[in-house]
Amino acid sequence: MKTIRVKTSRPYDVIIKERFKELGKYVGAISSAKKIAVVTDENVYPLYYDELADELGGFSLYPVIIGSGEKYKSVDSFLKIIDFCAENEFSREDAILALGGGVIGDVAGFAAACYLRGIDLIQCPTTLLSAIDSSVGGKTGVDLKQGKNMLGAFYQPSLTFINTLCINTLNKREIASGTGEGIKYAYISGNIKKEDFLPENRDDFIFKCVELKSEIVSKDERDFGVRKILNLGHTIGHAVEVLSGYSLSHGECVVKGINAIIDLSADFYGFSEEKKQKMKEFLRGFDCKINFSVEDILNQIKADKKRRGDKIDLILLKDVGKPEIVTFSESEITERLYAVIGKSI
Ligand SMILES: NC(=O)c1ccc[n+]([C@@H]2O[C@H](COP(=O)([O-])OP(=O)(O)OC[C@H]3O[C@@H](n4cnc5c(N)ncnc54)[C@H](O)[C@@H]3O)[C@@H](O)[C@H]2O)c1
Repeated sequence: MKTIRVKTSRPYDVIIKERFKELGKYVGAISSAKKIAVVTDENVYPLYYDELADELGGFSLYPVIIGSGEKYKSVDSFLKIIDFCAENEFSREDAILALGGGVIGDVAGFAAACYLRGIDLIQCPTTLLSAIDSSVGGKTGVDLKQGKNMLGAFYQPSLTFINTLCINTLNKREIASGTGEGIKYAYISGNIKKEDFLPENRDDFIFKCVELKSEIVSKDERDFGVRKILNLGHTIGHAVEVLSGYSLSHGECVVKGINAIIDLSADFYGFSEEKKQKMKEFLRGFDCKINFSVEDILNQIKADKKRRGDKIDLILLKDVGKPEIVTFSESEITERLYAVIGKSI
């Protein structure tokens, strides 16, 4: 078992272990909840609900099951959870537990942030992506038809409990999606190597990613400064994700976004072709091609919530382990995107 302390304004632990063993003890230590709404999705419920419930014998559990996939990261799902808590007379002492991937974590987290102006939230991520990223750091929310994550709140969990065995039931595509998100950490830190991605090193890999994320969010909880580097590949990645109608997974799109950012960085800093190709080592084997027009991508980027007036911050890479926040005007970004989009590695 490993523990990482996230030192945000409301500090909390991330517990990484095999199985849900002793989850009840950890929940009891951080929350006075009697009732817990366990928000999960239709795929995760039959796989893990009973095992989780066995460890939470001292609490009254209320399962809330929503559909699976990005289309359920919606205002409707959010209201379903809120209505459920209200109908079952949840008080401010009670809690919401998110058992699932990033979709469940984000929507359940947002419900916990809003219900009675905030009740305890416990994150139990079940995908690789949610274990290494979305269950830590407190970004919660839902998508609107106008864009991804457009309605949400910063709301830190009271506990994140990662049962690493859950990852064993993911299909190859979901593993690849989590790996895609994990590649972001390799580019940011410089201390994650290709062998860290091997299945036999998975628990250490999760630890390294969570440790790095926790360090960054502890310095900049609200995304005003250094936390922005965690958006590496995401501005273009989110645009592609929306344009694909969410048929591409989040991690698949992040990989495409990072590839474009390396091309853009090469152009911006004037790298040699050799350096650029060397930097792309982590991306080998992934489909990095973007099959949308620059115009469509630009339109999505313009709707991005991280845009400031006509300025947009992109995270470029001076090298592996050397991210830099660079501010572009709309016209600069247009010109630079035309130079790189549509090329594959
Ligand atoms: N809040 C944040 O900081 C943050 C960071 C990164 C990504 N995200 C968000 O996370 C979401 C993507 O998360 P995701 O990739 O986990 O997707 P997801 O939640 O849609 O899960 C992917 C699929 O795996 C299934 N699944 C989950 N756990 C399983 C298991 N153990 N075994 C078998 N199947 C399982 C789900 O039912 C779903 O079909 C996106 O909405 C993205 O925006 C949020």
